[in-house]
Amino acid sequence: MRLDKFLSNMGAGTRSEVKQLLKKNAVMVNGKKEKQSKRQINPEADEISVNGEVIAYIDKIYLMLNKPAGYVSAVEDAEHNTVISLIEQYQYLDLFPVGRLDKDTEGLLLITNDGQFNHDVMSPNKHVSKVYQVEAAQPVTQDDVQRFKEGIELSDGKVKPAKLEITEDPQIVFVTIHEGRYHQVKRMFHAIDNEVTKLKRVKIGNLKLDDNLLKGEYRELTETELELVKS
Ligand code: URA
Repeated sequence: MRLDKFLSNMGAGTRSEVKQLLKKNAVMVNGKKEKQSKRQINPEADEISVNGEVIAYIDKIYLMLNKPAGYVSAVEDAEHNTVISLIEQYQYLDLFPVGRLDKDTEGLLLITNDGQFNHDVMSPNKHVSKVYQVEAAQPVTQDDVQRFKEGIELSDGKVKPAKLEITEDPQIVFVTIHEGRYHQVKRMFHAIDNEVTKLKRVKIGNLKLDDNLLKGEYRELTETELELVKS
């Protein structure tokens, strides 16, 4: 990789700022000053520093965001705030959300720059489960549990069997689904003559939303958590 590309990709500055840094002798490769922007480096093996500070190489990144309501799951949007705008760091890594939550939905949203990971989590063939906490307009019944188990019929076809768990409060339930159709949970509740009044995703695969993250906060996934997503 070219040195100037490495520096701008890692957030050291824009292409022209990087040019200036090189010109001012601020950049070192393996302890030696380097002025050549086209110098080829190996990001895995070479140590690059700017003004004495070593630049850590980040290739793929995986973040867990506690999405607040009011943000759209997109990279850019002309009208609304996007979930990507909540991530102050790593903007230079071409981040995008893994799938979508509706604007008014809260909770666990993964953010990455890894297209293959996105595919592995979102592909319907991979059967990665998603758990949502639902606040419903009407109490949920055992009959509803059975109907979800059998597969609810929606306008775009029958959905796979879903698990419905009623809590002490029958208007607060957990639903586990295995697809990611448009407005799926809201439409499933509509189909049983109920309505979702609040929706929060709490789990993807075996990865739970970290309770310590306030709305709008995010953090990197650990290696173990990364495995939990797909298991
Ligand atoms: N189902 C919905 O209806 N909305 C979401 O945001 C996610 C699942």
